[in-house]
Amino acid sequence: MSGAKGFDPRFMQELKAKNNLVEVASSYVSLDRKGMNHWACCPFHHERTPSFSINEADQFYHCFGCGVSGDVVKFVQEMESTDFMGAVRILAARAKMSVPETNFDTEQAQAMKKKRDTLAKILLDSAKFYLANLYSGDRRADPHLQYISRRGLAPTTVKKFGLGASLDFNSLPDYLAGKGYSRADLKDSGVLGEKNGRLYDAQGGRLIFPIINAMDEVVAFGGRLLEKADFAKYKNTEETLLFNKRNILYNINQLKKLKREQPITSVIMVEGYMDTISLYQAGFKNVVASMGTALTKEHARLLKRYSENIYFSYDGDFAGQKNTLRGLGILEEEHMTVKVVPLPEGQDPDDVVKQGADAYQACLDKAMPLIDYRIHFAERKYDLSEASDKRRFIEEALKIVRTEQSESVREELLKKLRERTGVTYQSLERDLNNLPATELPTGYEEEVKFSASAAHDHKNMKAARFVLAAKLFSEPYTKGFDLSTLEFSDEVHAAVARYILSCERSGERIRPSALFEFLDPELPELNKLLDLTSEIEGKIAEKFFTDSVKALEKEQVEKKVALLTEAYAAETDNERRKQIAKELSEAIRRGKTLK
Ligand code: UTP
Ligand code: MN
Repeated sequence: MSGAKGFDPRFMQELKAKNNLVEVASSYVSLDRKGMNHWACCPFHHERTPSFSINEADQFYHCFGCGVSGDVVKFVQEMESTDFMGAVRILAARAKMSVPETNFDTEQAQAMKKKRDTLAKILLDSAKFYLANLYSGDRRADPHLQYISRRGLAPTTVKKFGLGASLDFNSLPDYLAGKGYSRADLKDSGVLGEKNGRLYDAQGGRLIFPIINAMDEVVAFGGRLLEKADFAKYKNTEETLLFNKRNILYNINQLKKLKREQPITSVIMVEGYMDTISLYQAGFKNVVASMGTALTKEHARLLKRYSENIYFSYDGDFAGQKNTLRGLGILEEEHMTVKVVPLPEGQDPDDVVKQGADAYQACLDKAMPLIDYRIHFAERKYDLSEASDKRRFIEEALKIVRTEQSESVREELLKKLRERTGVTYQSLERDLNNLPATELPTGYEEEVKFSASAAHDHKNMKAARFVLAAKLFSEPYTKGFDLSTLEFSDEVHAAVARYILSCERSGERIRPSALFEFLDPELPELNKLLDLTSEIEGKIAEKFFTDSVKALEKEQVEKKVALLTEAYAAETDNERRKQIAKELSEAIRRGKTLK
């Protein structure tokens, strides 16, 4: 028989009986007995006089201040920021009970768990190894130590984040092999790579940032090159059974500890390792990073366990801002309250906080809601001292204002716009009301929708976008691929492809922001393409890239076959017919290799 989440009800009864809520809670908060109840300051909201009460007889808690209530499992779930299963495991361990198999606990799941545990051990051993390297006195760690001090990190900070050093490619594999791990497990951990049958340290020579999950397990490493190079400065452990970028945030482990010490009123979301560490060191401890990838739904749900108020503090550069707009949407979908922290152009939080905690605090104080940010983002494209620019900015801003439902917010926005532009409130209001009814070019969206093979087209639109986005952001796996082998029927795609090819020909760096110099930033197709920037990293992306290229080539060949078949039927001249037939069979053959 199964009860809660597949557990035998008798197990749940015993679990609760052996974990008296009063005892469990007293290890987190200090309880005062008054009459029938035990009282404490509520661990779930800020308060000075206790309104959190536990009724021991009922084994139930309730806070008269913020309204939360529940039993011992719920309490641990909240305190440990974990889910039901996580809380059950903690309570079972506390009562020295073993967790019985549930309906979901198949043999396969157990094997998986065992594998997971082994990988976690390998990661932990590696983290310790890197850590020991850093302070070993080995001369090869000098550059790492110098780098750390150049970036202004105090020794206590370095310890808190468990930073380490890889000194070469061979000593980690040797060390781990000596610990008796199997070759398969070592490879599956992602810590080691393999080349010509030899295992090597995937982070060889880098400064190591351990990535630790909320259960305090090291699940991956970020490794930074100490010198400038033309390949990626950071390298993360590839995705493994333990590590999935979609659902982990850097520093979530310390955020969890922080939440145990005090209720968290907000969380600061940044992009990078160094942003996180520098903010933490400057006293902004409620910080986590998405590690360069744009925010996912999973990240949002994870964050929500800690706070609903998020300060979004991505880099003040083009990619950062694009990611900001996207990430904001995701957080809003999860009904979180989000504000964007505006940073000076070209700076990241690390740069700002280096000038002092006050400098960053000043940015936090200027944080603005999404709609304000959209207008702010638009404004950066214009030079408001130019009359024509100013007009265009106002028009764009008014289109954004119009999307706001609340009249009073619209009024506020117009007032701000008046201050930015010097245009009177009356004329802004009049222009707002006079905006033409449709404002966005929706052309090919409609075309795609109504074309005969909508599903097919749609799939290849995404494929084309993906290939272009990956090329545009110079993802390493796109390196050998020659874009000129593809034709793009969509105008925006064709324009993006032309830009990339012209850069490649001239040897210039591909700058995604340069697209805005010749394409309207509001073009929906352009935005769809740029929105993919969050999906173009990693192994799975690489596979998707190859598949997309194939799909596009296949489509192209199919089109060619259709055209040639038609031409063949219509051709009367024998010589030319032969020529077409030859081309046709070539195209068909090519089509077959793409299957
Ligand atoms: P940034 O390029 O903004 O770097 O990438 P940063 O954090 O400011 O790096 P520093 O200050 O030069 O050391 C933000 C984050 O994106 C991920 C990392 O997590 C990085 O911290 N990233 C970046 C990668 O995974 N690979 C890269 O090549 C670059
Ligand atoms: Mn930086």
